Amino acid sequence: MIKGGEILKKQRVIGIFDSGVGGLTVMKEILEQLLDVRIVYFGDTARVPYGNRSREELIRFGEESVTFLIGQGAEVIVVACNTSSATALPVLREQFDIPMIGMVEPGARLAVEKTLAGRIGLIATETTVRSKAYSSGVSRALAKGSVPEDLALREAWQHGEQAIAVVKAQSCPLFVPLIEAGLANSAEARGIARTYLAPLQAAGVDVLILGCTHYPFLEPVIHEILGEDVLIVDPAWAVVEELRIVLQRMDGGRRLEAVMPSSDSVLGKNHWRVRYFVSGDPGLFRQVGNTLLQQPIDLVEQVTPGE
Ligand code: DGL
Repeated sequence: MIKGGEILKKQRVIGIFDSGVGGLTVMKEILEQLLDVRIVYFGDTARVPYGNRSREELIRFGEESVTFLIGQGAEVIVVACNTSSATALPVLREQFDIPMIGMVEPGARLAVEKTLAGRIGLIATETTVRSKAYSSGVSRALAKGSVPEDLALREAWQHGEQAIAVVKAQSCPLFVPLIEAGLANSAEARGIARTYLAPLQAAGVDVLILGCTHYPFLEPVIHEILGEDVLIVDPAWAVVEELRIVLQRMDGGRRLEAVMPSSDSVLGKNHWRVRYFVSGDPGLFRQVGNTLLQQPIDLVEQVTPGE
């Protein structure tokens, strides 16, 4: 994971959407690593959770969100929701002429690179697990040339002696409502996490994909339960890398300059860095978002995309 900031030549506007606060985990990575981008964030909190929605609903919600974000000036869309990425993204890509980055492909690639034993675990929503998008994503990543960084596993895989696959996928339907209610750090979350993670421990996974953008908020709890032997992989790290490439391409393939911003000269006094929109209660989003991000979210506007 590359840390530290890089300044892009031109300020681009990134549109991000999720069912609620989950996409903030992706937004945080982007803001930390790409200093000269602006973000329009849409959380569809009136319709959260997405995790057990049908494909048709997710496509419709996705169309409405993307249309709204483009209307707000977005030049690239980050589908910061695994459930939408696993189901609606291929259709959205056909419908809209704008670069779109999802969570699944980057996340699957990262898991392939980081696994030491080829035993990948996944926690995600019901719909994402049922879609098997991560299993196909891992196969596709391998077919496209991604390989484990670990030399021994790489050779064993190349010689057909060791498989690399998602060996256990677990849906965690109670996680999202807990997080949206501001209970990520509660005793309830700990107890429920223990139950959800037990089958993954039993399956002997060595890498765990956080296949829902809400789950990084539970990372401390998950780490405490799984211990040091399981590497937790957040697809957002790889999404930022993909976004960096897309932005470079948009800027004519020029190399990005690593320059730190000086005071307010980069964004200017009157420029916003992030604008937040939600379809549900702006107060609740602000309150939960503040706690989860540990930095103030000031203005949140309520909108109804699709109307
Ligand atoms: N955060 C989203 C995801 O990554 C959606 C979770 C939900 O609303 O159920 O899947």
